[in-house]
Amino acid sequence: MNTASTAPVTAVILVAAGSGQRLGYGMPKAKVPLGGDSILTHALRGVAAAGIAGQICVAIPPGDPELRAQCEAFAAELQAEHTRTAAQGEDGLLPAVTTVDGGASRADSVRAALSALAPGTQFVLVHDAARALTPESVFHRVAAALTAGAVAVIPVIHVVDTIKTVDPTFGDDADIAPEIVTGTAPREMLRAVQTPQGFDLATLRGAHEAAVGFDGAQAAAVTDDAMLVELLGFPVHAVRGASQSLKITTPLDLILAEGLLEGPLGVRWVEG
Ligand code: C5P
Repeated sequence: MNTASTAPVTAVILVAAGSGQRLGYGMPKAKVPLGGDSILTHALRGVAAAGIAGQICVAIPPGDPELRAQCEAFAAELQAEHTRTAAQGEDGLLPAVTTVDGGASRADSVRAALSALAPGTQFVLVHDAARALTPESVFHRVAAALTAGAVAVIPVIHVVDTIKTVDPTFGDDADIAPEIVTGTAPREMLRAVQTPQGFDLATLRGAHEAAVGFDGAQAAAVTDDAMLVELLGFPVHAVRGASQSLKITTPLDLILAEGLLEGPLGVRWVEG
């Protein structure tokens, strides 16, 4: 994608510092092989292909030499491609690929990356490396909403299951079943939230600074960046996500991701 020089300076934070315990591979999730490359490399390719980032800042497990090397190798790949296309007269954006040591929680990893963004950055997209197959169109929809004036924007998909709330701690009927239903959420108003989540940088920095004083329970209750911005009272807009943007979390997700990459239709053909 050719990006005009007047475009806002956008950074993408790629959080890849998780342990990947639920995937059960005995290694950080970002290193787990997917279709012959690591999950991190697929995620980096997706971010770069979107053509919106001036900087890709990757939060990796502290001091991990292998993931740092993968980022450096990817940066060299981008540089070589940029040199090749420049020789053909194309004027594409060459993102700087940088790494930071992630923290104990996802929010800590985001905070570490926020403090390492280049001066002049106006917008930031925070993306889970675990959503390695997110299509370019989702990045574009998020970036377009920011350009149109949103301070916060998230990609969402409709929920197909009926969602109920339960009380997992009820006492009297515990010999009948482990939980009891307390309500049914109206499905037409529910959305499943994905990444990349896009923000005006100053707004997201303010939201994360406000969260530094949270106690353990409050911090644990925050499961995405948009929630922090909501808590400050800012509007959060929603754009269409994509079903292939699944968060690779369990062994089944990895099988699905492999299938999407190798299946007869290919991942780029699955929309919505
Ligand atoms: O653990 P979960 O699946 O919610 O992680 C979502 C994303 O956040 C993953 O890409 C993971 O690598 C990242 N993460 C992180 N630092 C942590 C925990 C998770 O960068 N301490």
